[in-house]
Amino acid sequence: MKKSALQVFVAALALGTVSSVAVQAEDAKPDAALANSLNPNDKSAEPDEKLLKQDAAVKVDDGKYFDKDGHPTFHVTNEGKKVDWYAYSGYRRYHAECHVCHGPDGMGSTYAPALKDSLKHLSYEEFIGILAGGKQDVNAAEQKVMPAFGDNKNVMCYADDLYVYLKARAAGAMGRVRPSDKEDKPEAAKKTEKECLGG
Ligand code: HEC
Repeated sequence: MKKSALQVFVAALALGTVSSVAVQAEDAKPDAALANSLNPNDKSAEPDEKLLKQDAAVKVDDGKYFDKDGHPTFHVTNEGKKVDWYAYSGYRRYHAECHVCHGPDGMGSTYAPALKDSLKHLSYEEFIGILAGGKQDVNAAEQKVMPAFGDNKNVMCYADDLYVYLKARAAGAMGRVRPSDKEDKPEAAKKTEKECLGG
């Protein structure tokens, strides 16, 4: 039986693929282990201090980092050489599913917007909503359509990964360089992936 976009989205929510666990204020203390260490020589990254602060991780749970609003976020260490598992996985998924329209490294194309810019202002909820439901600019002279991926497990099972990678690009924590090292794949990621793809 073919599942609707909404069903897959709700299933993803139930599996915890889509996270929105609010972080309690008392958890939100600065922690050196959560700080980012960026590559000072990567001119393609364009760090945005305001976003880097806003997206800073305040909590880590089995290799998954969360910002003060409880949304997944990136963790870049070792002068930009190492990224968290989700940012790395998102980088790979992006270049498998999105770059044909949105250009390599979220840079945009004549057809679709630069997601490294879109993610500067899109919220987590807006991002997941557009990913699942698509988007169409009805007023554009040329019809441009963002497909709905709600039925596509290769995308929806990795929605958080894509979000984390694109957030890192938007904040300038990751440049246009393929990440050379990554944190180990968390047990939670293995479990969620298996349940999400197999269900
Ligand atoms: C077939 C081409 C195509 C593919 C593949 C595609 N997109 Fe899009 N996407 C578009 C177009 C075109 C728009 C602009 C739609 C509009 O503005 O009405 C868009 C818009 C978006 C937006 C909203 C951007 C904004 O500034 O409002 C997001 C977020 C997005 N896409 C994410 C993704 C992700 C993540 C993937 C990969 C899983 C992906 N897209 C794959 C064509 C595509």
